[in-house]
Amino acid sequence: MAYLDYSKDSFTNASEVPFMDREMVIVLDFGGQYNQLVARRVRECNVYCEIYSYKTPIEKIKEMAPKGIILTGGPNSCYEEDSPTYSHELFELGVPVLGLCYGAQLMQYILGGKVEKADFREYGKTEVLVDTSTVLFHNVLPSTTCWMSHYDYISQLAPGFVSTAHTEHCPVAAAEDVSRKLYAIQFHPEVLHTHEGSRMLYNFVRGICGCAGDWEMGSFVEQSITAIREKVGDGKVLCALSGGVDSSVAAVLLSKAVGDQLTCVFVDHGLLRKNEGDEVEAVFGPDGNYDLRFVRVNAQERFYAKLAGVTEPEKKRKIIGEEFIRVFEEEAKKIGAVDFLVQGTIYPDVVESGLGGESAVIKSHHNVGGLPDYVDFKEIIEPLRNLFKDEVRQVGLKLGIPEYLVYRQPFPGPGLGIRIIGEVTAEKVRIVQDADAIYREEIANAGLDRSINQYFAALTNMRSVGVMGDERTYDYAVALRAVETVDFMTAEAARMPWDVLNKVMNRIINEVRGVNRVFYDISSKPPGTIEFE
Ligand code: XMP
Repeated sequence: MAYLDYSKDSFTNASEVPFMDREMVIVLDFGGQYNQLVARRVRECNVYCEIYSYKTPIEKIKEMAPKGIILTGGPNSCYEEDSPTYSHELFELGVPVLGLCYGAQLMQYILGGKVEKADFREYGKTEVLVDTSTVLFHNVLPSTTCWMSHYDYISQLAPGFVSTAHTEHCPVAAAEDVSRKLYAIQFHPEVLHTHEGSRMLYNFVRGICGCAGDWEMGSFVEQSITAIREKVGDGKVLCALSGGVDSSVAAVLLSKAVGDQLTCVFVDHGLLRKNEGDEVEAVFGPDGNYDLRFVRVNAQERFYAKLAGVTEPEKKRKIIGEEFIRVFEEEAKKIGAVDFLVQGTIYPDVVESGLGGESAVIKSHHNVGGLPDYVDFKEIIEPLRNLFKDEVRQVGLKLGIPEYLVYRQPFPGPGLGIRIIGEVTAEKVRIVQDADAIYREEIANAGLDRSINQYFAALTNMRSVGVMGDERTYDYAVALRAVETVDFMTAEAARMPWDVLNKVMNRIINEVRGVNRVFYDISSKPPGTIEFE
């Protein structure tokens, strides 16, 4: 597997600035798929945690003075020449080290143990039998279900280590050398399939590393603000604000740190939900809650003109994306050179776009296309780069951002442009905006707004005959979509109560001019997608 080179940008976040007096555990990334989950589980123990490449020099690790170090899994075999490795100094710092899967094997290999290819791969949920009472397995059942994913196994322990757990096929499921504070686990405690994995990581960071566990999202906010202030100094900062959760949280964090050194440009492309432009302006604009410079660009007509006559979905996406860049570029030129550009990138974007350090590319994402080269800036700031969506929402609440913004459902960059099948016109935008507003209102009235992951109205390009009063109509059909999903990669249609659907249908047909039919889309993904285009 090819390893991504850790460019400076990979670390351009709060972690570059040392947080004084901070208790931190670091995760060294050896290319596993679950690495951010490890960090997240540690943060769930109220201990701050960041991920660094296995290429991070020992000097930098010493400087950071972590309370503990966790080595992640990875796809390689540690005994092969080009496999990621680390110098044995790492194990001589006197800092507790926990190796997971590849990290466990590597620890054994470097310290004189033996790792070999097994006759068969141990994969999936596996019963692990704990052999001795140890701090790592404190309060863990003697037989506990764990997630295994390995071909290689530790066939001989390094001197000083004792085995503490095994499985039917794996003699060393866990091992430790307490005197050197070194711990190895063959399975993955970070995934939920390992039933007591969080307990084991808690035992490591709180019991073995001795972390006090006084970190919480509020500390993240304070520490980030301090770090951003130090980094930005009296520099100028520019942010493209979409009104979505991520860019809103990033903007507020920056505004708390550097006030009106921050300019937020909000492009209203005319494809937003009903009243959304005004809502964003009410929160971030001059009469809003934050100290920042807010620029709203009303570019609706420009976008509609560019989209006239275009029906092909990908072409629409491309036009909207390019026009957005053009508008933003014009505004950026008016502001002149800036020192920093803020992006609301969050961890799932990083993984999906293959920028996530050592792990393999999973898929390319719609919006993370690299750095915009059309803005004159020196450096990029991505304060949320290490966080999962629900953690970003917690940060948003800590920052006092209104709940309706924090819990906003996902909304695609190209907006209603991909929820209007066929050509986009101002009239169609009005129809879909009005229908969608009714749908959202009724879902909220029914108390379903937090349980359905994404829901919206779309405008089919179909017109059909109906009757309204005594009149013949020839109007559009609106489609309602509502999905339940964990990862947005697969989804099921939500089982919407009939009375809610009925009410929405009645209201849309009575209140939205130009609509005479309402459909409810029951397709799952796959074969459907969540959006219509
Ligand atoms: P699909 O339609 O691919 O949607 O099932 C999955 C998730 O991605 C969102 N989506 C987009 N987001 N730009 C975006 O920013 C896009 O072009 C785009 N297309 C889909 C969609 O809303 C859903 O959450």
